[in-house]
Amino acid sequence: MRYLLLIFLLLQFLEASQSYESGKSIYMKSGCYSCHGINLEGLHKYPYLANRAKGYMTYKLKRFRSKLSDNQQQEMMIPFALNLSDKDIDDLTTYMYQFVEEKKNKKYDDNFKIQGDGGS
Ligand code: HEC
Repeated sequence: MRYLLLIFLLLQFLEASQSYESGKSIYMKSGCYSCHGINLEGLHKYPYLANRAKGYMTYKLKRFRSKLSDNQQQEMMIPFALNLSDKDIDDLTTYMYQFVEEKKNKKYDDNFKIQGDGGS
């Protein structure tokens, strides 16, 4: 019984991380980043999406998908939401809610040491 629980928890964990990765790829493929940013940070009138409540983001995306918006500004979102399936929205909102910024491409080498006295 205990093992079953463990396996269950492990599966849940795997499913959640798959959802995150899949959400990320939909986010990149659908061009969401062009307005909301690579790090979901938003820009000017485009809202940031990082770590926002999953429930509310789901509500908004489904509303846009049904061609509903509250103002002209939001109408911009409709074409981007139209083709999303329920699973896409679930994955996307998991990605947004759990978003962690990746810091891979370091610009500077921290281990760099100056040799000699600089040539004076
Ligand atoms: C052309 C620019 C543009 C693109 C591309 C775009 N969005 Fe948006 N998005 C907006 C605008 C504008 C709003 C509405 C801002 C407002 O409420 O004033 C918005 C709102 C949202 C909201 C609701 C946020 C809130 O605070 O209410 C979500 C969620 C969202 N977008 C997700 C996405 C996803 C997911 C994609 C890709 C499938 C995407 N957006 C692509 C411009 C864009």
